[in-house]
Amino acid sequence: MQRSSLRDCKAWQDAGLPLSTTSNEACKLYDAFLTQWISWTNDASLGGIEGCQSRLKAADPDFVMGHVIINGLELIGTGRSVVLDKDLAASIKRMAELSKTQEVTERERLHVRALEMFAKGSLPKACDIWEQILLDNPTDLLALKLAHDSYFYLGFQPQLRDSIARVLPHWTPTIPLYGYLKGMYSFGLVETNFYDLAEKTATESLALNPADAWSVHSLAHIHEMRADVEAGLTFMKQTEKNWMNSDMLACHNYWHWALYHIEKGEYEAALTIYDDYIYKRCFSVGAMLDLVDASSMLFRLQMEGVNIGDRWKEVVKVTTNHSKDHILIFNDAHILMSLCGAKDTEIAAQFMASLQELAQAPGENYQHQHFQELGLPICQAVVEFANGNYSQTVDLLHPVRYQIQRVGGSNAQRDVFNLLLINAALKSDNKLHHKLARCLLVERDGMRPNSLMTERLIRKAMSLHSLE
Ligand SMILES: [Fe+2]
Repeated sequence: MQRSSLRDCKAWQDAGLPLSTTSNEACKLYDAFLTQWISWTNDASLGGIEGCQSRLKAADPDFVMGHVIINGLELIGTGRSVVLDKDLAASIKRMAELSKTQEVTERERLHVRALEMFAKGSLPKACDIWEQILLDNPTDLLALKLAHDSYFYLGFQPQLRDSIARVLPHWTPTIPLYGYLKGMYSFGLVETNFYDLAEKTATESLALNPADAWSVHSLAHIHEMRADVEAGLTFMKQTEKNWMNSDMLACHNYWHWALYHIEKGEYEAALTIYDDYIYKRCFSVGAMLDLVDASSMLFRLQMEGVNIGDRWKEVVKVTTNHSKDHILIFNDAHILMSLCGAKDTEIAAQFMASLQELAQAPGENYQHQHFQELGLPICQAVVEFANGNYSQTVDLLHPVRYQIQRVGGSNAQRDVFNLLLINAALKSDNKLHHKLARCLLVERDGMRPNSLMTERLIRKAMSLHSLE
């Protein structure tokens, strides 16, 4: 988007989404912020996200929706916790006070309420409020994006799809950022296994805007779920120039690229992508998605038997800062993988102790309410696996395997837990676990035929079988 086409007060009013400020500059900066968030890109021509943030605050310090969009990205994207981060807590409080001391629309009031719910960890309640906004305001892209990302964190896959599907008829190609909606819809379709329709939708989106990194990401998932590594590798290589500058998502797209190499057994190629892109991004920015990608990649390579050198020691320099956050079980498990990988047993023990403490008194926090039955067994399984206690790993993970979807993330990301269970079962000294591994691999082969990794694991399982 050109800076000249950013929407001012009147344009937002005309779009049916009035903003309670008299500052045209604030309205335009809100648009610039939203545009960069939706496109996962710090666009220098729009001032970058951080640039927009400071100018937005300066243009109208009391602009409620300015506070909403800034706090929204902080809560959703950075993994900052209002419990541990006093500045963020103060920022949420200020936003709430402003919404009460000045005239705002009902839509804006609901936005504030939804973020307050999100900040408390009540993600499903926050989503209900965003959906309430969308009933009357189906073109409110901020509500749609916040709900989309939250459904992802919750593992609410049908909602991820349907939330977009039900507003699509209200959108026309002339509405700014229209194409990105298709990418979001495509991702909801992938996660609910409608691969053909997901592919068609993402392809339509890329025809409108080849730089839409989220549509690229959706197609990367489709190739991953079909175990179609050659198509995936070709696609990523051919489109790299279009998405590599979408700096908020490029690292994750490279992670998908590296997954194809792991699938093929091309471990050096996967490590090269890790070193050149994932690790660097993890250190330069340290967004939670980047930390998760780094941990997931190293953990998967180790399960494949690859020597990853001392890379964990570098990752924990960043992840240790989040060892007491306990915001999402999915993130927690990946932080713990890094702590165990680096053999940082003291921090890992502190991590488990604080997790246990929160599991005892979850309060309103939706994720904390799942710590007891999901967070603790998953995280303890990571610890046991690292300690070579493979039988215990299976005993912890197997009973919860069908509930793991509820920790959030994508099917491709959560596959790390499937692989953890299979690898633990293969390494266990319990022969029943070897049988279990064979059963799990037959299932895996049924869902993703022609997977080279599954074939390798099946050969390993059969070699154990022949010895028994
Ligand atoms: Fe992904």
